[in-house]
Amino acid sequence: MIKLISRRANLVKMVTNEKIAGKFSGGNIISLDQFTSSDIKKVLETAKKLKPLRLKGKASSILSGKIISLLFYEPSTRTFSSFASAAKQLGAQTLEIHDVKSSSVAKGESLTDTIHVLQSYSDLIVLRHPQEGSAIEAASVASVPIINAGDGTNEHPTQTLLDLYTIYERSKKLDNLTGVIAGDMLNGRTVKSLIKGLSLFKNNTLYLLSPSQLKLNTNEFKSLSKNTKLIEISDTKDMPKNADFWYWTRVQKERFKNEAEYEKLKHSFVLTPELITEYASKNTYFMHPLPRVGEIDPRVDSNPNALYLTTQMKNGVYVRMALLALLLNKIK
Ligand code: CP
Repeated sequence: MIKLISRRANLVKMVTNEKIAGKFSGGNIISLDQFTSSDIKKVLETAKKLKPLRLKGKASSILSGKIISLLFYEPSTRTFSSFASAAKQLGAQTLEIHDVKSSSVAKGESLTDTIHVLQSYSDLIVLRHPQEGSAIEAASVASVPIINAGDGTNEHPTQTLLDLYTIYERSKKLDNLTGVIAGDMLNGRTVKSLIKGLSLFKNNTLYLLSPSQLKLNTNEFKSLSKNTKLIEISDTKDMPKNADFWYWTRVQKERFKNEAEYEKLKHSFVLTPELITEYASKNTYFMHPLPRVGEIDPRVDSNPNALYLTTQMKNGVYVRMALLALLLNKIK
Protein backbone atom coordinates (compact mmCIF):
# COMPACT_ATOMS: atom_id res chain seq x y z
CA MET A 1 0.00 0.00 0.00
CA ILE A 2 2.83 2.37 0.96
CA LYS A 3 4.55 1.56 -2.34
CA LEU A 4 1.35 2.32 -4.22
CA ILE A 5 0.92 5.66 -2.42
CA SER A 6 4.52 6.71 -3.13
CA ARG A 7 4.17 5.68 -6.78
CA ARG A 8 1.02 7.80 -6.98
CA ALA A 9 2.82 10.70 -5.29
CA ASN A 10 5.58 10.52 -7.90
CA LEU A 11 3.02 10.40 -10.67
CA VAL A 12 1.22 13.40 -9.20
CA LYS A 13 4.50 15.33 -9.30
CA MET A 14 5.22 14.19 -12.83
CA VAL A 15 1.87 15.17 -14.30
CA THR A 16 0.93 18.24 -12.29
CA ASN A 17 4.34 19.95 -12.15
CA GLU A 18 4.13 20.45 -15.85
CA LYS A 19 2.00 23.42 -16.86
CA ILE A 20 -0.14 23.29 -19.96
CA ALA A 21 1.21 26.73 -20.94
CA GLY A 22 -0.85 26.86 -24.13
CA LYS A 23 -0.01 23.29 -25.26
CA PHE A 24 -3.37 21.56 -25.01
CA SER A 25 -2.96 19.30 -28.03
CA GLY A 26 -2.47 15.66 -27.00
CA GLY A 27 -2.26 16.56 -23.30
CA ASN A 28 -4.19 15.45 -20.22
CA ILE A 29 -6.53 17.37 -17.93
CA ILE A 30 -5.85 15.97 -14.47
CA SER A 31 -5.66 18.88 -12.01
CA LEU A 32 -6.04 22.64 -11.79
CA ASP A 33 -2.34 22.62 -10.82
CA GLN A 34 -1.54 22.20 -14.52
CA PHE A 35 -3.19 25.50 -15.50
CA THR A 36 -1.81 28.98 -15.80
CA SER A 37 -4.27 31.88 -15.78
CA SER A 38 -3.77 32.13 -19.57
CA ASP A 39 -4.69 28.44 -19.96
CA ILE A 40 -7.92 29.07 -18.06
CA LYS A 41 -8.67 32.06 -20.28
CA LYS A 42 -7.97 29.97 -23.40
CA VAL A 43 -10.54 27.34 -22.33
CA LEU A 44 -13.12 30.00 -21.49
CA GLU A 45 -12.56 31.87 -24.78
CA THR A 46 -12.83 28.63 -26.75
CA ALA A 47 -16.06 27.71 -24.94
CA LYS A 48 -17.42 31.18 -25.71
CA LYS A 49 -16.57 30.66 -29.39
CA LEU A 50 -18.23 27.24 -29.50
CA LYS A 51 -21.40 28.29 -27.67
CA PRO A 52 -23.11 29.98 -30.65
CA LEU A 53 -22.08 27.12 -32.95
CA ARG A 54 -23.72 24.66 -30.54
CA LEU A 55 -26.85 26.80 -30.31
CA LYS A 56 -27.10 26.92 -34.12
CA GLY A 57 -26.17 23.22 -34.49
CA LYS A 58 -23.13 24.18 -36.57
CA ALA A 59 -20.30 22.54 -34.62
CA SER A 60 -20.85 19.01 -35.82
CA SER A 61 -17.89 18.63 -38.16
CA ILE A 62 -15.15 19.70 -35.73
CA LEU A 63 -14.54 16.21 -34.28
CA SER A 64 -16.02 14.12 -37.02
CA GLY A 65 -14.29 10.72 -37.23
CA LYS A 66 -13.19 10.86 -33.56
CA ILE A 67 -14.33 8.49 -30.81
CA ILE A 68 -14.47 9.59 -27.16
CA SER A 69 -14.54 6.97 -24.38
CA LEU A 70 -16.50 7.77 -21.24
CA LEU A 71 -15.28 5.43 -18.48
CA PHE A 72 -17.16 6.00 -15.24
CA TYR A 73 -16.49 3.90 -12.11
CA GLU A 74 -18.75 6.16 -10.01
CA PRO A 75 -22.30 7.41 -10.61
CA SER A 76 -22.77 10.61 -12.61
CA THR A 77 -25.57 12.42 -14.37
CA ARG A 78 -24.13 15.80 -15.39
CA THR A 79 -20.48 15.05 -16.14
CA PHE A 80 -21.23 11.88 -18.08
CA SER A 81 -24.14 13.34 -20.05
CA SER A 82 -22.54 16.70 -20.75
CA PHE A 83 -19.36 15.05 -22.09
CA ALA A 84 -21.55 12.76 -24.23
CA SER A 85 -23.52 15.78 -25.43
CA ALA A 86 -20.34 17.81 -26.07
CA ALA A 87 -18.76 14.99 -28.09
CA LYS A 88 -21.91 14.46 -30.15
CA GLN A 89 -22.39 18.20 -30.74
CA LEU A 90 -18.88 18.24 -32.23
CA GLY A 91 -19.61 15.27 -34.49
CA ALA A 92 -17.63 12.66 -32.50
CA GLN A 93 -18.99 9.30 -31.47
CA THR A 94 -18.90 8.01 -27.91
CA LEU A 95 -18.01 4.70 -26.36
CA GLU A 96 -19.81 4.69 -23.04
CA ILE A 97 -19.13 2.61 -19.92
CA HIS A 98 -21.46 4.12 -17.38
CA ASP A 99 -21.57 1.15 -15.07
CA VAL A 100 -18.29 -0.72 -14.74
CA LYS A 101 -20.14 -3.65 -13.12
CA SER A 102 -21.22 -4.61 -16.63
CA SER A 103 -17.61 -4.44 -17.92
CA SER A 104 -14.61 -6.71 -17.30
CA VAL A 105 -13.78 -4.57 -14.26
CA ALA A 106 -16.29 -6.86 -12.51
CA LYS A 107 -13.96 -9.77 -13.34
CA GLY A 108 -11.06 -7.95 -11.70
CA GLU A 109 -9.51 -6.14 -14.67
CA SER A 110 -7.22 -3.33 -13.47
CA LEU A 111 -7.66 0.33 -14.28
CA THR A 112 -4.47 0.44 -16.34
CA ASP A 113 -5.45 -2.63 -18.40
CA THR A 114 -8.87 -1.07 -18.98
CA ILE A 115 -7.14 2.11 -20.21
CA HIS A 116 -5.04 0.01 -22.62
CA VAL A 117 -8.25 -1.49 -23.99
CA LEU A 118 -10.09 1.79 -24.48
CA GLN A 119 -7.15 3.63 -26.02
CA SER A 120 -7.15 0.94 -28.69
CA TYR A 121 -10.74 1.83 -29.52
CA SER A 122 -10.86 5.61 -29.09
CA ASP A 123 -9.02 8.93 -29.33
CA LEU A 124 -9.54 10.32 -25.81
CA ILE A 125 -10.74 8.89 -22.47
CA VAL A 126 -12.85 10.72 -19.88
CA LEU A 127 -12.40 8.94 -16.54
CA ARG A 128 -14.29 9.13 -13.27
CA HIS A 129 -12.96 6.91 -10.47
CA PRO A 130 -13.38 6.74 -6.67
CA GLN A 131 -9.63 6.58 -5.99
CA GLU A 132 -7.57 9.76 -5.54
CA GLY A 133 -4.72 9.72 -8.08
CA SER A 134 -6.49 7.34 -10.48
CA ALA A 135 -6.54 9.88 -13.33
CA ILE A 136 -2.78 10.31 -13.02
CA GLU A 137 -2.30 6.57 -12.95
CA ALA A 138 -4.38 6.30 -16.11
CA ALA A 139 -2.45 9.12 -17.79
CA SER A 140 0.87 7.45 -16.95
CA VAL A 141 0.03 4.48 -19.22
CA ALA A 142 -2.24 6.11 -21.78
CA SER A 143 -1.26 6.97 -25.34
CA VAL A 144 -4.39 9.14 -25.75
CA PRO A 145 -5.45 12.19 -23.68
CA ILE A 146 -7.08 11.49 -20.31
CA ILE A 147 -9.59 13.91 -18.79
CA ASN A 148 -10.17 13.58 -15.05
CA ALA A 149 -13.94 13.64 -14.49
CA GLY A 150 -13.47 13.34 -10.72
CA ASP A 151 -10.99 11.19 -8.76
CA GLY A 152 -12.23 10.43 -5.26
CA THR A 153 -12.01 13.38 -2.89
CA ASN A 154 -9.15 14.90 -4.89
CA GLU A 155 -10.20 17.03 -7.89
CA HIS A 156 -12.87 17.65 -10.51
CA PRO A 157 -11.13 20.05 -12.92
CA THR A 158 -13.77 20.20 -15.65
CA GLN A 159 -16.43 21.16 -13.08
CA THR A 160 -14.18 24.04 -12.03
CA LEU A 161 -13.65 25.19 -15.60
CA LEU A 162 -17.42 25.40 -16.11
CA ASP A 163 -17.76 27.13 -12.74
CA LEU A 164 -15.11 29.68 -13.71
CA TYR A 165 -16.85 30.20 -17.06
CA THR A 166 -20.10 30.86 -15.16
CA ILE A 167 -18.41 33.24 -12.71
CA TYR A 168 -16.68 35.10 -15.54
CA GLU A 169 -19.89 35.39 -17.55
CA ARG A 170 -21.67 36.80 -14.54
CA SER A 171 -19.00 38.96 -12.85
CA LYS A 172 -16.94 39.82 -15.98
CA LYS A 173 -13.78 39.07 -14.00
CA LEU A 174 -12.01 36.29 -12.12
CA ASP A 175 -10.14 38.51 -9.68
CA ASN A 176 -11.12 40.77 -6.79
CA LEU A 177 -14.04 38.48 -5.98
CA THR A 178 -15.57 37.57 -2.63
CA GLY A 179 -17.25 34.19 -2.52
CA VAL A 180 -18.83 31.89 0.03
CA ILE A 181 -18.20 28.17 -0.44
CA ALA A 182 -20.43 26.06 1.81
CA GLY A 183 -20.70 22.37 2.66
CA ASP A 184 -18.12 19.60 2.68
CA MET A 185 -14.59 21.01 2.31
CA LEU A 186 -12.97 17.81 3.53
CA ASN A 187 -14.42 15.43 0.96
CA GLY A 188 -15.66 17.73 -1.80
CA ARG A 189 -13.45 17.60 -4.89
CA THR A 190 -15.25 20.46 -6.65
CA VAL A 191 -14.39 22.78 -3.77
CA LYS A 192 -10.66 22.02 -3.94
CA SER A 193 -10.47 22.48 -7.70
CA LEU A 194 -12.47 25.72 -7.50
CA ILE A 195 -10.17 27.19 -4.84
CA LYS A 196 -7.15 26.25 -6.98
CA GLY A 197 -8.77 27.81 -10.04
CA LEU A 198 -9.58 31.10 -8.31
CA SER A 199 -6.09 31.15 -6.78
CA LEU A 200 -4.65 31.72 -10.25
CA PHE A 201 -6.21 35.19 -10.19
CA LYS A 202 -5.46 38.11 -7.89
CA ASN A 203 -7.10 39.25 -4.71
CA ASN A 204 -9.90 36.74 -4.28
CA THR A 205 -11.35 36.09 -0.82
CA LEU A 206 -13.23 32.90 -0.09
CA TYR A 207 -15.25 32.18 3.05
CA LEU A 208 -15.37 28.41 3.65
CA LEU A 209 -18.56 27.63 5.59
CA SER A 210 -18.62 24.10 7.00
CA PRO A 211 -19.11 22.22 10.24
CA SER A 212 -15.73 21.88 12.00
CA GLN A 213 -15.68 18.11 11.19
CA LEU A 214 -15.74 18.90 7.45
CA LYS A 215 -13.06 21.60 7.27
CA LEU A 216 -10.13 21.22 4.87
CA ASN A 217 -7.35 19.22 6.46
CA THR A 218 -4.44 21.30 7.74
CA ASN A 219 -2.06 20.53 4.86
CA GLU A 220 -4.69 21.26 2.23
CA PHE A 221 -5.63 24.52 3.93
CA LYS A 222 -1.96 25.55 3.95
CA SER A 223 -1.40 24.72 0.31
CA LEU A 224 -4.73 26.11 -0.95
CA SER A 225 -4.38 29.39 0.93
CA LYS A 226 -1.04 30.34 -0.67
CA ASN A 227 -2.55 32.69 -3.26
CA THR A 228 -6.08 33.23 -2.00
CA LYS A 229 -7.39 34.53 1.27
CA LEU A 230 -9.35 31.62 2.81
CA ILE A 231 -11.50 32.35 5.86
CA GLU A 232 -12.94 29.28 7.60
CA ILE A 233 -16.29 29.83 9.33
CA SER A 234 -18.71 27.45 11.04
CA ASP A 235 -21.66 29.75 11.58
CA THR A 236 -23.80 31.58 9.03
CA LYS A 237 -23.63 34.71 11.19
CA ASP A 238 -19.96 35.03 10.11
CA MET A 239 -20.86 35.15 6.41
CA PRO A 240 -19.91 38.34 4.58
CA LYS A 241 -22.69 40.63 3.40
CA ASN A 242 -23.01 41.08 -0.37
CA ALA A 243 -20.56 38.44 -1.64
CA ASP A 244 -20.26 38.10 -5.42
CA PHE A 245 -21.30 34.44 -5.33
CA TRP A 246 -22.31 31.61 -3.04
CA TYR A 247 -21.16 28.13 -4.05
CA TRP A 248 -23.12 25.53 -2.08
CA THR A 249 -22.13 21.83 -2.03
CA ARG A 250 -23.59 18.64 -0.61
CA VAL A 251 -22.10 16.67 2.27
CA GLN A 252 -20.54 13.66 0.50
CA LYS A 253 -22.37 10.67 1.99
CA GLU A 254 -20.31 8.14 0.01
CA ARG A 255 -17.07 9.28 1.70
CA PHE A 256 -18.35 8.68 5.28
CA LYS A 257 -17.50 5.51 7.19
CA ASN A 258 -20.16 6.25 9.81
CA GLU A 259 -23.68 6.85 8.53
CA ALA A 260 -24.87 8.37 11.83
CA GLU A 261 -22.13 11.02 11.51
CA TYR A 262 -23.32 11.81 7.97
CA GLU A 263 -26.94 12.11 9.16
CA LYS A 264 -25.82 14.51 11.89
CA LEU A 265 -23.91 16.76 9.50
CA LYS A 266 -25.78 16.54 6.19
CA HIS A 267 -27.98 19.58 6.63
CA SER A 268 -25.68 21.73 8.74
CA PHE A 269 -26.11 24.62 6.29
CA VAL A 270 -29.16 25.04 4.07
CA LEU A 271 -29.41 27.80 1.46
CA THR A 272 -32.79 29.44 2.10
CA PRO A 273 -34.55 32.60 0.92
CA GLU A 274 -34.20 33.89 4.50
CA LEU A 275 -30.40 33.48 4.41
CA ILE A 276 -30.35 35.27 1.06
CA THR A 277 -32.39 38.17 2.45
CA GLU A 278 -30.03 38.49 5.37
CA TYR A 279 -26.61 38.18 3.67
CA ALA A 280 -26.82 38.43 -0.13
CA SER A 281 -27.09 41.49 -2.35
CA LYS A 282 -29.37 41.72 -5.37
CA ASN A 283 -26.33 40.81 -7.51
CA THR A 284 -25.12 37.80 -5.50
CA TYR A 285 -25.53 34.65 -7.58
CA PHE A 286 -26.02 31.12 -6.31
CA MET A 287 -24.15 28.11 -7.64
CA HIS A 288 -23.98 24.39 -6.81
CA PRO A 289 -22.19 21.62 -8.76
CA LEU A 290 -25.15 19.30 -8.05
CA PRO A 291 -26.52 16.80 -7.21
CA ARG A 292 -28.17 18.47 -4.21
CA VAL A 293 -29.70 16.45 -1.43
CA GLY A 294 -31.60 18.88 0.73
CA GLU A 295 -28.98 21.62 1.23
CA ILE A 296 -30.84 24.09 -1.01
CA ASP A 297 -34.39 25.00 -0.16
CA PRO A 298 -36.40 24.54 -3.41
CA ARG A 299 -37.91 28.01 -2.87
CA VAL A 300 -34.53 29.38 -3.98
CA ASP A 301 -34.86 27.75 -7.43
CA SER A 302 -37.04 30.55 -8.79
CA ASN A 303 -34.60 33.27 -7.68
CA PRO A 304 -33.27 34.84 -10.90
CA ASN A 305 -29.73 34.59 -9.49
CA ALA A 306 -29.98 30.82 -8.91
CA LEU A 307 -27.70 29.39 -11.63
CA TYR A 308 -27.39 25.74 -10.58
CA LEU A 309 -30.34 24.28 -12.53
CA THR A 310 -29.81 26.33 -15.67
CA THR A 311 -26.72 28.34 -16.65
CA GLN A 312 -24.14 26.24 -14.85
CA MET A 313 -25.24 22.99 -16.49
CA LYS A 314 -25.51 24.49 -19.97
CA ASN A 315 -22.05 25.99 -19.57
CA GLY A 316 -20.77 22.49 -18.78
CA VAL A 317 -21.45 21.46 -22.38
CA TYR A 318 -19.65 24.48 -23.92
CA VAL A 319 -16.61 24.08 -21.69
CA ARG A 320 -16.37 20.33 -22.31
CA MET A 321 -16.72 20.94 -26.06
CA ALA A 322 -13.78 23.34 -25.77
CA LEU A 323 -11.63 20.84 -23.90
CA LEU A 324 -12.31 18.01 -26.37
CA ALA A 325 -11.55 20.26 -29.36
CA LEU A 326 -8.36 21.66 -27.77
CA LEU A 327 -6.94 18.30 -26.65
CA LEU A 328 -7.66 16.74 -30.03
CA ASN A 329 -6.06 19.75 -31.76
CA LYS A 330 -9.16 20.61 -33.75
CA ILE A 331 -9.40 24.24 -32.70
CA LYS A 332 -6.73 26.90 -32.19
N1 CP B 1 -21.35 17.98 -10.75
C1 CP B 1 -21.17 16.67 -11.02
O1 CP B 1 -20.05 16.15 -11.08
O2 CP B 1 -22.34 15.97 -11.18
P1 CP B 1 -22.42 14.43 -11.56
O3 CP B 1 -21.87 13.65 -10.38
O4 CP B 1 -23.87 14.15 -11.82
O5 CP B 1 -21.56 14.19 -12.76
